[in-house]
Amino acid sequence: MTTIQNVAIAGASGNLGISILHALLNSKAFNVTVLSRESSTATFPDSVTVVHVDYTSVPDLTATLKGQDAVVSAVGTAAINTQHPLIEASVAAGVARFIPSEFSADIDNAMSSALPVYQPQITVHKALQGLAQTHPAFTYTLIRNGVLLDWSMAKGFVIAFDSETPSLYDGGDRPLSVSNLASVGQAVVGVLRNPRETRNRVMYVHDLVITQNKVLAMARKLAPARTWNPVVVDTADLEARSRDAYAKGVVTIHSSLGLLIRAAFGEGYGGEFQRVDNELLGVGFKTDVDLEAMVKDAMDHTLVPGS
Ligand SMILES: NC(=O)c1ccc[n+]([C@@H]2O[C@H](COP(=O)([O-])OP(=O)(O)OC[C@H]3O[C@@H](n4cnc5c(N)ncnc54)[C@H](OP(=O)(O)O)[C@@H]3O)[C@@H](O)[C@H]2O)c1
Repeated sequence: MTTIQNVAIAGASGNLGISILHALLNSKAFNVTVLSRESSTATFPDSVTVVHVDYTSVPDLTATLKGQDAVVSAVGTAAINTQHPLIEASVAAGVARFIPSEFSADIDNAMSSALPVYQPQITVHKALQGLAQTHPAFTYTLIRNGVLLDWSMAKGFVIAFDSETPSLYDGGDRPLSVSNLASVGQAVVGVLRNPRETRNRVMYVHDLVITQNKVLAMARKLAPARTWNPVVVDTADLEARSRDAYAKGVVTIHSSLGLLIRAAFGEGYGGEFQRVDNELLGVGFKTDVDLEAMVKDAMDHTLVPGS
């Protein structure tokens, strides 16, 4: 494989998929086809070809993927398991590179990999590794970007700015790798522009490393009139509660949250990446000045209680 030109993207209408789609289009390096569910009402720019697909039909997916060099999947968390027919079809259609929907914490970390929330992703990795061995023309790349910072701050997951008692996980001083949605889009472009270097590899990117206390200090500086009395939350308790829910068969975004928080903030879970591939992928780093601007933006878009 020398170059990748034809790229199909699944889940392009999602929180992250939109950013990946924009990065692919803005790069002007690829012919982009969007795959969208038959039931989807999502809309896309007129300039892209959209194919409505049945994600359960390997023959239909194979026909759709003929001529594609790469498939990027950004399907939602609840749909990670649905990628297996798409992967099988990619192999059958002669697709050279598959990037699965992951965009996560460091799932290779032994403690993170034991969390039940990541088992669907791990099953996907194993499938990709097995297929890459038996079909050498088929390759994959995994992208890990830590916590999606702009998305998370908008939802109050890093610091709940709208609460007077935001949670500080394990005290709020644990460093974690974070990336904005646009940076992940750029990372995908970087992988597709460097197919040889990224072949069958896990790529790590982050914009910067933050702590909750650093973000809270910035918020206090930006809004001196606001009062926050943070509450320390033990991530081991959150993990235990989520595991109990999973053991009872309750697998929801809510029950998963404690596990995702544990992976990001827990000691020994690899929340701060030890190596990153930003340079190869053409993803720049951000500074504390950038972080403060993001905190301001998130606060400006957060309702203050009573306002
Ligand atoms: N690291 C982080 O902090 C972080 C945060 C959020 C998400 N993520 C990860 O980023 C990836 C994308 O998440 P997201 O929040 O952007 O996803 P999302 O918005 O929930 O969904 C993305 C798209 O997936 C498609 N989809 C939904 N259900 C599907 C199904 N059952 N089968 C096939 N396709 C389906 C839809 O596209 P169509 O309607 O066009 O078919 C949807 O717009 C996931 O791997 C997620 O775990 C990471």
